[in-house]
Amino acid sequence: PELDKFINVYDFEKYAPLKMTKQGLAYYSSGKGVIFFKIVNQNIKIKVDVTTVDMRTKILGFESSCPIYLSATALGKLAHDDGELAIARAAYNSGVIQMIPTLGSYSLEEICNARVDKTSQVQFFQLYVNANRELTRKLVKTAEAHGCKALFITVDAPQLARRERDMRFKVNTNPANVQSNQSSSNGSTQQGFSKALSSFIDPSLQWKDIAWFQSITNMKIVLKGIQCAEDALLAVKHGVDGIVLSNHGGRQLDTSRSSIEVLVEVMDALKRARVDDRIEVYVDGGIRRGTDIFKALALGAKAVGIGRPMLWGLACHGQPGVQKVIDLLKAELESTMRLMGTPTLAAIRKDMLVVDDISHH
Ligand code: FNR
Repeated sequence: PELDKFINVYDFEKYAPLKMTKQGLAYYSSGKGVIFFKIVNQNIKIKVDVTTVDMRTKILGFESSCPIYLSATALGKLAHDDGELAIARAAYNSGVIQMIPTLGSYSLEEICNARVDKTSQVQFFQLYVNANRELTRKLVKTAEAHGCKALFITVDAPQLARRERDMRFKVNTNPANVQSNQSSSNGSTQQGFSKALSSFIDPSLQWKDIAWFQSITNMKIVLKGIQCAEDALLAVKHGVDGIVLSNHGGRQLDTSRSSIEVLVEVMDALKRARVDDRIEVYVDGGIRRGTDIFKALALGAKAVGIGRPMLWGLACHGQPGVQKVIDLLKAELESTMRLMGTPTLAAIRKDMLVVDDISHH
């Protein structure tokens, strides 16, 4: 359908399969978009002037038009020929920040060069740490040299999970950075993308490696894939700038907890240790509605990441499709903020939610 017929994110989910190959779809849809937000209800507030709603924020100190960023997803070409390049342009037009994947269909340099405004547009880089640390160092240096402002180190994927749908298809496509930089994937896409990509990642990554990253880069460092309070506290101790509570969109460990559940526990722990101002906390996984974003912010998240909704937009309509997905989420968040009587993000508070038995679900 025409772009103006899409009225929410689920419309994009519905039509994306029509635009994709069987193989691409299998890779994208591995894992569940589980969401446990339903148990959180809202108390509508009145008597607040909500004529204008301001949802601008800063992520790691960088301006964003709203508390949403585009999370890294590998192999963007499976959705659209312009892949991550289209996402870069859409991000600029929507005023949001793109997290470039290590395993993009386009190379890091190409995606950085796709910035619409070379000076003002901010991009982050998602890093899969390779066992070959020289290679990893080179990748980090390249990201920094090309103007990336933060390094999101993915820590929930010592191996990519057994993704069964994906395993049933055999395709030959490799991410640009892997193709050009290393040989260990040796064309083993015979068992699906996930298996092939898995060989890129170092399973021995540990807390002590964080200091090494801090020594080789001036970029901000964020750990993507934290899933419990203990690790959140360790992240603070190791001096990182942020954490993403994520279960990788449900694509890694089956039956892992949802990020929103982890968020409650993590914010409590950070507050108890009086370090909640030392680190920014983001969540991703299953964000499909403005209300989802509102709830995450109320529980203490600084911003949310989206993965699949962006890819559905990309598959359906390329760059304008991605922009439309962001526009819809922004419109829904704005409407939610207005209905909740919160004209600014700072006005959104935890006591506006009924966090009902969250640990029992
Ligand atoms: C991902 N994700 C991901 N994360 C990462 O750190 N490196 C990667 O290469 C990828 N690749 C990837 C591919 C695809 C097809 C998907 C759907 C996801 C995870 C992603 O960054 C994010 O954590 C989730 O996608 C968020 O969940 P939703 O928004 O997709 O529900």
